[in-house]
Amino acid sequence: MLYRDAVFTLFLLLALPVILLSVSFFGEKRSNSLKKAQIAHSEISQRVFSSFAGFETVKTMQANNTFEGYFNDLSKRLKDAGFRSELYFALNSVFNFTAGYVVVALVIAFGSYRLASNQLSPGEFVSFLMALVLLQMPLMEFQKGLLELRSNLPAVERVRNILDLKPERREGAILSGAPLNIEIKSLRVRLETSAQLNGIDLSIPYGEHVIVLGETGSGKSTLLRVLSGLLPYSGSVILGGEELSKVLLSNLRSRVLLIPQEPFVFSATLRENLTLGEAIESSELIRALELARFDFSDLDQPLRPSELSGGEKQRIALARIFLKNPDILLLDEVTSALDEKTQKQVILNILRAFEKKTIIAVAHRLSLLHYFNRAIVLSDGKIIYDGSPDGASSALLHKPSIATQ
Ligand SMILES: Nc1ncnc2c1ncn2[C@@H]1O[C@H](COP(=O)(O)OP(=O)(O)O)[C@@H](O)[C@H]1O
Ligand SMILES: [Mg+2]
Repeated sequence: MLYRDAVFTLFLLLALPVILLSVSFFGEKRSNSLKKAQIAHSEISQRVFSSFAGFETVKTMQANNTFEGYFNDLSKRLKDAGFRSELYFALNSVFNFTAGYVVVALVIAFGSYRLASNQLSPGEFVSFLMALVLLQMPLMEFQKGLLELRSNLPAVERVRNILDLKPERREGAILSGAPLNIEIKSLRVRLETSAQLNGIDLSIPYGEHVIVLGETGSGKSTLLRVLSGLLPYSGSVILGGEELSKVLLSNLRSRVLLIPQEPFVFSATLRENLTLGEAIESSELIRALELARFDFSDLDQPLRPSELSGGEKQRIALARIFLKNPDILLLDEVTSALDEKTQKQVILNILRAFEKKTIIAVAHRLSLLHYFNRAIVLSDGKIIYDGSPDGASSALLHKPSIATQ
């Protein structure tokens, strides 16, 4: 085009900054609105999911209107943000078309003047105009593409944040066959801003049965999570001679089994919930269910987790224990929903099955104390008692915050 006419081309060059300006202006506006729409969208999904999952609480607490209100507010935010992002897209087109036609009008005006003063032949004028019109469409599409790229940057960033998350380590030391003694020194765990464990020193020789007591929030679950390699920590935790944070996780988890406080039952058959993909004989499954005192009629009937009681879920989780053969068993209030008698039977079954192995069990009922050979009491992320089970209850009771109640 330049060789057609330098002055005309100059008009076209004038349009370029205008195009880039509108990419940056409308792109930013649209990108902000798209970001708001994405946030509203994810909040709606979370709210809807939690209000369905907690429908009993919503109904019995008569919170229907509150939850409906949340949903309406979020929908309105989503609608407004979506509307705005489309508006900026349309305004961008209007702006560009206007700028484009202003350039065409200038070319026609200037061209007519030069035609009239015989500086330009009609042929040259028409060919330039044609070239300009042909160029306009691709230029507009290009600009639209740039605008879309610019507006979707926040979405790219959200994806990148997820991709940047560090995966669990896939390599590390293998634990030797030696007994898995536990040596903990100055163990600290900080999550977000507060300290969950605040300097723990603890040595547990292989084969001990330890009960862990303490108030809610004292750090009992955190301690068990550290030992099963689920949490980063500072200080040192030596397991069978290896620093826990350096051990290959799959190896660690084949030797250390954590049964968490809130057992999870999958929407699958009882058999699938127990085998979790491994090939295990039916007779073994039945034996495990008996040891965990779970009554059932058919291994292959699908379970509906929402219809199971807390105690039934716990018994399924407890049955999983007897199918694994860990060296260290970590139990986090795993019998809290069972009646006194069943609890005693199951605990005795576990202690018998793991007689020579290490068990660290968090429990609340003092009636379980004398089944264990050592007790630890935690308070505010520290050990305030470590010794024979007989002294543990008085250590719990003499804690100032309890004594004053
Ligand atoms: N993921 C987490 N992020 C931040 N704080 C947490 C997290 N998990 C637990 N906590 C806090 O850590 C403290 C100890 O928790 P936890 O070990 O679960 O106590 P316990 O099992 O003794 O009741 C509590 O104050 C709890 O609120
Ligand atoms: Mg806990």
